[in-house]
Amino acid sequence: MVELIIDGQKVEVEEGATILEAADKLNIAIPTLCYHENLTPFGACRVCTVEVVVDGVSSLTTACNCPVEQGMEVRTVSERALEARMLAVELLLAKCPGSEAIRSLARDMGIEEPRVELETEGCILCGLCVRTCQELVGVGALRLVDRGLDRDVKETFVEASTDKCIGCGSCAYICPTSFIKLEETGDTRTVWDRVFKLKKCQVCGNYWAPEAQLEYIRKTCNLPSDFFDVCPNCK
Ligand code: FES
Repeated sequence: MVELIIDGQKVEVEEGATILEAADKLNIAIPTLCYHENLTPFGACRVCTVEVVVDGVSSLTTACNCPVEQGMEVRTVSERALEARMLAVELLLAKCPGSEAIRSLARDMGIEEPRVELETEGCILCGLCVRTCQELVGVGALRLVDRGLDRDVKETFVEASTDKCIGCGSCAYICPTSFIKLEETGDTRTVWDRVFKLKKCQVCGNYWAPEAQLEYIRKTCNLPSDFFDVCPNCK
């Protein structure tokens, strides 16, 4: 076990636990955006920034992916931590002013509007879609790639491998900025510019899930070929 102090309170947690988990044990809330309890932490958005003091040296770190250390002191609401978090949220808001998830974080911090405007396509590179596709769905159709625009400048994008994608839409569901678009019309669903045919229920006649997704689940779970002929509502 590891003992540390968070906002003046002692807490003991398992070795390898993160600061976020330790704070949760004390019911101390630290805001997050790119963190999800069922995914590997990524440390991308910096919304969870806290101040830590180790051996008398103070620094800033992201609570969601920083492991605790014996004797560490964590300050979640110090001036330094709050300033860093506000800056992170303000930049995110400047990139994605339409995202309700980011607007809500900004409101909680008293930020009305960002002081700058940044050109963005709406992707904040939080990696939630990539990790969900890889770790929860098990498909791995998305990845973050760097493309060099010239010798010194690199831009990072989310790239979809459309031949791997099964059209489940988990990426669109988890995306905090609605950057990933999913549309359904009639018997088709479109995501990542790929059109997926939807399966028709043999009882109610509703189109209820992409055939590619159902086939993936059927094969992965070794289910009979007619297992998804009827939708969950009619089973
Ligand atoms: S929630 Fe920790 S860096 Fe995004």
